[in-house]
Order: sequence, then C-alpha cells, then structure tokens
Amino acid sequence: MIGVPMSSNPRRARLAALGYYVPERAVTNADLESIVDTTDEWILSRTGIRERRVVAADQATSDLAIGAAINILTSAGLSADEIDVLIVPTCTPDQLFPSVAAVTADAIGAHDAAAFDIQAACSGFIYGLAQAVALVESGLARNVLVVGAEVFSRVINPEDRSTYVLFGDAAAGALVVGVDDAGPSTFIGFELGADGSKGDQLQIPVGGTRHPASQPFDPADAYLQMNGREVFRFATRVIEDSVIRLLDRLGMTIDDVDLLVPHQANQRIIDHAVVRLGIDPARVFGNLDRYGNTSAASIPLALAEARDQGVLTPGMRVMMVGFGAGLTWAACLVRFDPT
Ligand code: UT7
Repeated sequence: MIGVPMSSNPRRARLAALGYYVPERAVTNADLESIVDTTDEWILSRTGIRERRVVAADQATSDLAIGAAINILTSAGLSADEIDVLIVPTCTPDQLFPSVAAVTADAIGAHDAAAFDIQAACSGFIYGLAQAVALVESGLARNVLVVGAEVFSRVINPEDRSTYVLFGDAAAGALVVGVDDAGPSTFIGFELGADGSKGDQLQIPVGGTRHPASQPFDPADAYLQMNGREVFRFATRVIEDSVIRLLDRLGMTIDDVDLLVPHQANQRIIDHAVVRLGIDPARVFGNLDRYGNTSAASIPLALAEARDQGVLTPGMRVMMVGFGAGLTWAACLVRFDPT
C-alpha cells in the first residue's frame, strides 16, 4: 500500500534479499546449430555464451516473475501481503496490458500492493531500484519488490543469426525495505540516462501504436532488430562513462568498489570495461556463459548467484551497471547489507 510522504525523513532503504527463477530447459550453442547458420565456436568466441534457458510452451513472462518473487519473499521471510509496491522491469511483457506486475501481484497474494511495469530494457532493474529507493526513503512505502523478468525467446527471429544466439529467459530481483535509521543510505548513488535518438538501433517495430499488430506487417518487424556493432560501441562507452561519473560524484575511485556486476550481454563488452576501468577481474562477477543475455533479469540474476557462491558477502560495496534498448544506461553503487 502506498502511504503519505513523511515530513521528516528518518527511513533508509536497504537491499534486503535477492532471488531468481529460471526455466528448466537449457539450450546449448550446439542445439542452435540446427536452427540458424552458426557454430558453438562462433558464439562462444564472439559473445562468451555457452547456453541459455528457454521457457516451456505454456510459460510467459509473469510465470517467471511469480517464481522469482516467491523465492525472494521466502529468502526474506516476508509474506506477500507485506509488499507495498511490486515493480517489474520488462520489455517482453505477457501482453501490452495488463502489466506483468499486476498479474504477478495477484498470483503471489500481494493484494495490497501497487503494481506496475517499467520499460528501460536491460537497464530496467537499476531503474526499478532507483524507484524503489525513492518510494521507501520518501516514506511512501516500506517494502518494495523489484523483479526483472524477460522472455526474449518469443521475440527473437530464427532467421536472424546475429541476434538469435544472444538471449535467454529468466526472472530475478530484489526486495528493498525501509529501516528506521537516520544514517546514510546503503544505496550510495545512482546514475541513469537515456538517448532516444538511438532508439532504432535496438527495437521491435510492430505491436505498439505506431505499427499495430492489427495492421498488415512484415513478419521480420515483429521480432527484435539490432545494430549489434552500434550497440556494442554504445555499451563500451556508457559502462565506463557512467561508472566513472558516479564514482567522481561520490568522491570515490574504482578501488572503493568491492564487486562489479555488469549487465551480462557480451563477454567482450565486459572485458573491455574491465580494462578501461582498471578493476581487477577477480572483483568482477558474471554468469553470461550459462544464461546469455536475460535483459532486465541479468544483473539481479548475477547478484543472486554471486551471493549463493559466497562471492557477494555482507558489507561489500557493489557497482551494478547496465545498458540496453532506448538506448538507456544505468549504474548503481550499493552496500550489500541483507540483515
Ligand atoms: O543488452 C543489450 C543488447 N545487445 C548487445 O549487447 C549486443 C552488442 N553487440 C554484440 O554483442 C556484437 O555486435 C554481436 C555479438 C551481436 C555481433 O558480434 P560482432 O563481432 O560485432 O559481429 P559482426 O556483426 O561484425 O559480424 C561478423 C561476422 C559477419 O559475417 P561477415 O559479414 O564477416 O561474413 C556476420 O554475418 O559474423 C557473422 N555472424 C555470425 N556467424 C556465425 C553474425 N552472427 C553470427 C552467428 N554465427 N550467430
């Protein structure tokens, strides 16, 4: 339930829990060789991906979001009716409306929650976190669930090998809670941005109001279309720029970052960023090889696995950074303090 803003502001947001849900079926690069003109060697060497998860025929995005939301609540020991707001960053919703968030809130029993989707593609999880922190620290809400959920397997073109091999399906997210504490926020800072002039570099042209699905269209326009080289150039620039800008604003350097968790799109983009930022590769976490690009789910999926593997531990300062359709970018520095 959304409340009223507090006149004084003693409430601080905390990243309280992480969780994820992925479909059972793993599709390897070798499996894709029978669908598009590609090879395991090309995919692995050009992207770092070995396999990705793909939904069953009867699953849609909300089914993954529901699984992730339940897992996050279980790990936090919170019941669904204690959720004030459920935000689902996604650019592959079940349908144009209702929102994935509203469907998910109903399914998990978060009947008092305000629920809405946000569309910032692969930057969406960090955009969602910024909203969660603002809601909590203004006093409008105490418990906000942010669940990035995507089913890209339904929007990639089996006739376009340059995009078909890149994406996977997943949902993952975090619980942001308010604690009554006048101290500094554990969310140390955000850097969000968008450049709509490059929107056509990564898009699905059909299905909205400009080209409604009710009108005749070229089937290729109902699928994701990407200028891979242009997005690659954009990604390498904005990862470095946004992280440095955020650290500069905070009076910090890359040495103040314990763990870097970048959007999992292409290992070559990540390697480039690691060199440019001058961070020790041992302080960078990724799981791209097993999931491919899961867009809004990719950063929380990596965070949750880093925690499960004991790489992400309480007290660490974590820099997340993402980029994607819009074109958008987003960075966030947070102290992981799940207690
Ligand atoms: O979340 C944000 C979403 N997007 C991204 O992060 C994507 C950013 N871009 C990329 O990751 C890379 O640009 C790609 C992985 C998409 C492509 O890699 P690239 O090294 O930029 O390849 P390219 O587009 O320059 O293509 C090189 C060659 C071409 O053949 P020719 O023209 O040199 O004969 C392509 O046709 O590789 C060919 N190619 C493939 N070959 C085998 C493209 N896709 C494939 C494929 N299998 N799947």
